[in-house]
Amino acid sequence: MSLAIHLLTRFDPHTGTIPGVGESVRRLSDLRGYFVDEAAYSAALSQADPILYATSGVEPAAGAGDLHYALARLMPGRIGREYYMTKGHYHAWRPAAEVYVGLSGSGAMLLEDEAGEACRLVPLEANSVVYVPGYTAHRTINTGATPLIYLGIYPAAAGHDYGAIATRNFRKVVVEIDGRPTLLDRLAYRAALGQGAGAHRHA
Ligand SMILES: [Fe+2]
Repeated sequence: MSLAIHLLTRFDPHTGTIPGVGESVRRLSDLRGYFVDEAAYSAALSQADPILYATSGVEPAAGAGDLHYALARLMPGRIGREYYMTKGHYHAWRPAAEVYVGLSGSGAMLLEDEAGEACRLVPLEANSVVYVPGYTAHRTINTGATPLIYLGIYPAAAGHDYGAIATRNFRKVVVEIDGRPTLLDRLAYRAALGQGAGAHRHA
C-alpha cells in the first residue's frame, strides 16, 4: 500500500466537524416514518426541519483490508418521548464489524442481530468504545442535552444497507420515561400511543 494516501485527519471533538471535509446532513424530514409518535413528528415538522445529525466521512483508500471512518454529530432532542436518533443500518457486507468511539455528549447504541432475537442498548459517551459485530443493525441515540459526537471506523468494503431498517425498523425503541432512557418494545409503545400494531414504515 502506498503512503501517498490521506494519512492524517484533524477533527474538532466538540463540534464534530473536520475542517475541509463536507458533511452529509440528515434533517427531521429525512426521517419520516422512523419515529413512533406520528402526531408528535408531524407537529414538530410543521414548526421546523432541524438537522438531526451530520457525518463527515473519510475514505483514504478502498482496497481489501483498508478502513474508512466517519465523524458524526447527533443533536439532542425528542419526538414525543423518543430521542433523536440516526436511521440505523446494516452493513451491505454483513460480516463487517465497526468500532464506535465516543468523544463528547452522552447517548447509546441500539444493536440488533439480523434474526431480531437479540437486542442490546449499549452506552456511547466520551471515553468509551462500542464494538458492533457483523450481521448487526446499529443505530445511535442521543439521550443527553448536548450534541453526541462520535467516530465510527469500519472496513472500506462494509457498505451501508438502510433498506431493511427503513422497511421494518428496529424492534425496540428508546424513550424518555421519568427522565431516564428506557428500552421498550416498538409494538408496545405503538399500542400505548393508540397507533395499533400495523403500519411499519413505508420505504
Ligand atoms: Fe455502520
